[in-house]
Amino acid sequence: MKPTADLIIINANELLTISGHSEKPKTGSQMDDLGIINNGSLAVSKDRIIACGNSEDVLAQISTTSETIQIDATGKVVMPGFIDCHTHLVFGGSREAEFEQRIKGASYLDILRSGGGILNTVRSTRAASKAELIKKSLGHLDTMLEFGTTTVEAKSGYGLTIDAELKQLQVVKKLNDLHPIDIISTFLVHTTPPEFNSSQEFLDFVINSMLPRMQSMAEYCDIFCEQDVFDIEQSRQVLTAAKNLGFKLKIHADQLNDTGGAQLAASLHASSASHLDHISRVGIEKMADSGTIAVLIPGASFFLGSDTYPPALDMISRGVAVALATDFNPGSCPTESMQIILTMACLHMNMSPTQAICAATINAAHALERADTIGSLEVGKQADIIILDVPNYRCIPYHFGVNNVETVIKKGVIVYSD
Ligand code: NIG
Ligand code: FE
Repeated sequence: MKPTADLIIINANELLTISGHSEKPKTGSQMDDLGIINNGSLAVSKDRIIACGNSEDVLAQISTTSETIQIDATGKVVMPGFIDCHTHLVFGGSREAEFEQRIKGASYLDILRSGGGILNTVRSTRAASKAELIKKSLGHLDTMLEFGTTTVEAKSGYGLTIDAELKQLQVVKKLNDLHPIDIISTFLVHTTPPEFNSSQEFLDFVINSMLPRMQSMAEYCDIFCEQDVFDIEQSRQVLTAAKNLGFKLKIHADQLNDTGGAQLAASLHASSASHLDHISRVGIEKMADSGTIAVLIPGASFFLGSDTYPPALDMISRGVAVALATDFNPGSCPTESMQIILTMACLHMNMSPTQAICAATINAAHALERADTIGSLEVGKQADIIILDVPNYRCIPYHFGVNNVETVIKKGVIVYSD
């Protein structure tokens, strides 16, 4: 007997399956292939994809009933939902005044050194109640969903006390229950708060007192390894302690300066290293060898007015698995839209639209170790699907600054429809 579909999407002009890489991320020329099926269809039962291919084949494989929801995608693109694998979703306040200071010439690190920047958001986040943080974050999640993101990673790091970090992580947990987007949580050691005399004093507290308390609340541990923030040895200390407690590892590395963060990520077998605008040749080689995913964030370079972007093509040609993310946060990249990140990846890092889409889907799923269930459209995978009102995939980064997403399906349910 043929399986019955609860939902079918038929006649897509382009169905981007991005298939065949659930076990290993796409590297090198594998990123030149979106697995496109013209006149494609897809069938869903409950939260899973049960058929996917050209329309005739799919319709022959399944049965429908009067209850089956049918979506005609004629002239449109159908693809897996975007996976935003690096965000700072939960925070209090906003930093448009610093945006203006930066326009007038202040640098991001100068603002941080003078007690603003991340520390500004720490003050607002500490002052906010859980209910306020939930309400604010739900708004951001709604925007993300409308723009086609179906899974996000969310970091803490704006609390920097045990209670305030736990508050952020509890909010993440609650958001995951309340919102259709799946949220994966990370404990981020972001910067030293003013109540400590030195970064080392703070990190001793992190290692001895904070990490054990965060363990049940976060899957990953991340640290901001940067000049005047935490150095390589300190980052190694924290990440090693976290690994011993069972955390999986991420790192903010080589964003504003080359500090050797990429090599550290590789040597600790971190799942991913982010930013990497200033990654060295050795860093690229070590990451290619270790399989650590490079999460590139052109939105932060753009928003910080930097001339330096991560060397994406160099990394891809040398075998590093590259993913893309927004880094959504109030300081260096206040956008929820993965679509505009694709545009920036193309224009500022010379990634092709095909490479950028692979980086924002299947490789981003690998950066979160979720590629067995999400990141591509294949039979058995979770039905996280978006329909875009564009005739072909190149139009996604091309028609920029608008929302090309028309319909979002999460776990088989239509959760947004334009
Ligand atoms: O990834 N670089 C460190 N952290 C964030 C920015 C956080 C902020 O400015 O609030 C980033 O860019
Ligand atoms: Fe970040």
